[in-house]
Formats: sequence, C-alpha cells, structure tokens
Amino acid sequence: MKALILAGGKGTRLRPLTHTIAKQLVPVANKPVLHFVMEQIAEANINEVGIIISPETGEQIQNSICSGENWGFKTTYIMQHTPGGLAHAVKTAREFLGDDSFLMFLGDNLIQGGVKELVTQFNANNSDALILLKEVTNPAAFGVAVVDSKQRVQKLVEKPKAPPSNLALVGIYLFRPIIHSAIDRIKPSWRGELEITDAIQELLNMNYNVIARQLSGWWLDTGKKDDILEANRVVLDEYAEVRVLGRVDKKSQIAGRVQIGSGTEIVESVIRGPVVIGDNCRIVNSFIGPFTAVGSGSILEDVGVEHSVILDKCQLRQVPRLEDSLLGTGARVNRKNSRHNALYLFLGDDAEVML
Ligand code: G1P
Repeated sequence: MKALILAGGKGTRLRPLTHTIAKQLVPVANKPVLHFVMEQIAEANINEVGIIISPETGEQIQNSICSGENWGFKTTYIMQHTPGGLAHAVKTAREFLGDDSFLMFLGDNLIQGGVKELVTQFNANNSDALILLKEVTNPAAFGVAVVDSKQRVQKLVEKPKAPPSNLALVGIYLFRPIIHSAIDRIKPSWRGELEITDAIQELLNMNYNVIARQLSGWWLDTGKKDDILEANRVVLDEYAEVRVLGRVDKKSQIAGRVQIGSGTEIVESVIRGPVVIGDNCRIVNSFIGPFTAVGSGSILEDVGVEHSVILDKCQLRQVPRLEDSLLGTGARVNRKNSRHNALYLFLGDDAEVML
C-alpha cells in the first residue's frame, strides 16, 4: 500500500496567510498541518509516499518535508501543473501509484485517532474503495454520501444544492487500482474539476462496492481562518504537555499544560494552558490564555491574548486584549501613544481587521 498526499492548491480561503505560505504548512499548535498528516500515515505502517505539489508552493512543501526520512518514508514529489481537481491529482500520480492500492489524504485535513485502523480494515476486506464520513450541519459545502444500514455506499454527490444526507466526505480515502478506470470515465464538474466524488460514484455505476466508515472523533479541514483556530484549540487540548525548556522568572505564573521552547524568556507574566510557545520568544508583563500558540522568535510586551494563533517573529506591544486572532509571520501590532483616537493600519493584501 502506498499513500498519496495532496499538497497543491492555491489556498484562496486562507489569504492573506497563503500569499506567502502553502495552506498545508500553516502551523497548528506550532506544527505544520502537513507534519501531522505525515505522522498519521507513518503510524499506519505505510512507507512509500507520493506528495502532489503545485508550481506556486511546491518548493516550500519540499523544503519542509525533504526526503521524508524523519517519518521513515521514501517520498516522491509529483507536480500538478494545473489545479484540475482531486481525481486529476490521482491521474497525475498514475505512474507513482502503479498497480498498488493507496491511501489518499488531503494535506490540510486532520482526524482524531489517525488512519491506522482504517488501513488495517481496508487491507482485511475485499471492498473496492473505502470512504470516511462525518455528520456535519452544512453538507452542501462538501461531497455527500448516502449509505445503507451495512455502511455500503449507495450514492455520492459533490457539493449538492439539496443534500441527500448530512454525511460529508472527509478528505481521506482508500482505493484499489480500479479507481483509475473510473477516473478515465468521468468528465469535469460544473467547477471545471475532475472530482474524486464523481469517480467514486462511477465505481458504483460500474458495480464495484464502496464501503463507508463514520468518524465519531473530530475532523479538521484547515482551509479557513476559523478552522485554523478550531484546529489549534482541539490539537492543544489533546496534545499539549507540560514542558518548560526556556527561562521563567519568579514573578511569573505558569498554570496547566504549557510548553515553552528553548531560549524563550517569560518575565512577570501569567501563562494559562493549554498553550504552546516556540523558541527564542520574549514574553514580558503579559497574559497568555488558553488555546494560544505563539511561534518562535516572537515578542509580546504588555499583551493579553487568548484563543489565538501567532506565527513566528511577531511583535505585539501594549495590546490589552486579543482573542480569536490569527497573525501571520512577522506581523506587528503596536500602540501609538497619540491623543487622536485613531487607528493606524498598514495591512497586506486580503488582510482582515475586526473592530
Ligand atoms: C474536497 C472534496 C469534497 C470533500 C472535501 C473534504 O472539497 O471535493 O468532496 O468533502 O474536500 O475536505 P474542496 O476542498 O475541494 O472544496
């Protein structure tokens, strides 16, 4: 069994962050989402991985994953020159996939518990494809499936206007090589893409059997700002541990599960976990509240922040209360002590400010 990770796309829903960073590399709890994906695949004892990359962000992805040997993988990078859809990505990887069964994993998706059990189940039974489903309140935003009482898939539709169920397709799939024949038979959808959902429906049309598993744990699709904040909350809640490598002065208080990286200094501050702070940060006279991640090299002075993601090398000064915020690398938020009650903004393209 091989794995195919999709790490292309433009990440338009995460701009402005994705003007400079691939959406799969946006960190959650200070670790790129794609690294969590790599870990989950490694746990499933797969060791040959293909990564689909795009011309826009392919180099960043390669620099972040390198040979993949950190996770014990033999990695092949596959360039998808145009964003032609998920089934088009599989077509692009045809040579890499050969005649093997494969796990396909969208590089901005994360699920609780990983994929090990799913892979074992698929290897042990004779279904032609296995999909993962999750009940959602907004099925029209996803691929949607209808299943019978034995979890056999009856029908699938991509982004239906009138959803036939509330079961969304999670971006994790298991396929046998017959999927390639189904992909060869489908046409681009209304959005001009070769949809993997349509290819799976084609498998059903060809009388192959597709089974579903329903996910009861969390599923994070980290394509938007609020999704990143939610992913950060859920991942910190589950994985944050007490680990203080930096220096904490006597006047500071650390409570709960707080990780502080090496070279970081905490001075006269209160940190209430779950929180993760990277290396070489300076936190002075500040409060860092639950569900906050602060990237390496950031400076916070006289700041109160909670439920936020602050990437590397940010500088915040005299910001009494920041919540539900996502700050890109090197962002600066300062107070100007002037008598005008004015805002002084210098915002990048597609930036968003909520007052
Ligand atoms: C894609 C799939 C969709 C699936 C979703 C999961 O949607 O087409 O069926 O439910 O991923 O994240 P897209 O991200 O292309 O809108």
